[in-house]
Amino acid sequence: MNALAPRPGILDIAAYQPGNPLAGGPTKYVNLASNESALGPSPRAREAYKAAAAELHYYPDGGSTRLRRAIGAVQGLDPERIVCGAGSDELLTLLARGYAGPGDEILMSEHGFAMYPITTRSVGATPVMVPDRELTADVDGFLARVTPRTRLVFIANPNNPTGTMISADEMARLRAGLPDNVLLVVDSAYAEYVVRNDYSPGVELVDAGDNTVMTRTFSKIHGLAALRIGWAYCPPAIADVLNRLRSPFNVGTPAQEAGIAAIEDVANVDKARGHNDVWRPWFEAEVAKLGLKPFPSVANFSLVEFPADEKHSAKAAHAFMQARGILLRPVGVYGLPRCLRITIGTESEMRTLVAALAEFLA
Ligand SMILES: Cc1ncc(COP(=O)(O)O)c(C=O)c1O
Repeated sequence: MNALAPRPGILDIAAYQPGNPLAGGPTKYVNLASNESALGPSPRAREAYKAAAAELHYYPDGGSTRLRRAIGAVQGLDPERIVCGAGSDELLTLLARGYAGPGDEILMSEHGFAMYPITTRSVGATPVMVPDRELTADVDGFLARVTPRTRLVFIANPNNPTGTMISADEMARLRAGLPDNVLLVVDSAYAEYVVRNDYSPGVELVDAGDNTVMTRTFSKIHGLAALRIGWAYCPPAIADVLNRLRSPFNVGTPAQEAGIAAIEDVANVDKARGHNDVWRPWFEAEVAKLGLKPFPSVANFSLVEFPADEKHSAKAAHAFMQARGILLRPVGVYGLPRCLRITIGTESEMRTLVAALAEFLA
């Protein structure tokens, strides 16, 4: 008798490691490990979430119709070309399922988001890593690795965990250099934090053809990570594919209602961006004063390099902070063992962290 076995490749997946607190430590953490919002969601989103409690016995609107309309209205996009998902993670997986399979290759950058290789392997395809140039996605490197097997490119812009971005012109050059039958997925999870004027989340590339998708999330600047809401802006044929593949009720009613309130509260988004614009540069400057190396970021987190000596290493810093109830993200799995990724939290969290770093280095 043959034993039951999962499909080939599934057991090659290294399961995603979330930045959750370990059991047995302090119960109250300063959590700067998961790039969540420093200030939390719009109060209106909380109210909308609570109000949805009266409707819990009904299935949600499977098409997320009002949420898509709200996103479309705020972003100036056609709601028919938007597909909502249980986090952008779900949409990334559906895109891989829709467009790649065994024998196919999916390109991603060396220090790209950890879900890309997982998603790639989950559909039986092969992840192909493209080396970064100065911790930044290298367009020429991507183009050099295209083969007849390449079906899809995942690129986060800004990238997690490096915090770097490529310009709209560079992204357009990537699209122009890829064959037409390769899907480009521009993952713009941190788009709202970017204040540089050479940046674009990718809408114009989606509009320009039929082979580029932009994904976005409510987990970052909108502060709704617990609710799992993402959205993709797609050419119509790709929206159709996603709608065929997704589960019929993939975004719950409380999530849809809170999402509508969150995206319509533009002032709250501006406030969150403003907070980040003050405290990320402040943090990077303080860290540099302590003799550590922060890589300049355009998102709501910073990648910080620690000394090579064991006593002051990233590993030692992580353990030291964890014992004090401060959670930072080790990025060894991203091939950056000397660094920690640190989310920009509240003012008091950042001051607490900087004081603890000074103590650690003393
Ligand atoms: C680059 C990037 N893409 C996608 C996601 C997933 O976000 P979501 O919560 O929408 O699934 C994250 C979350 O950290 C991310 O960093």
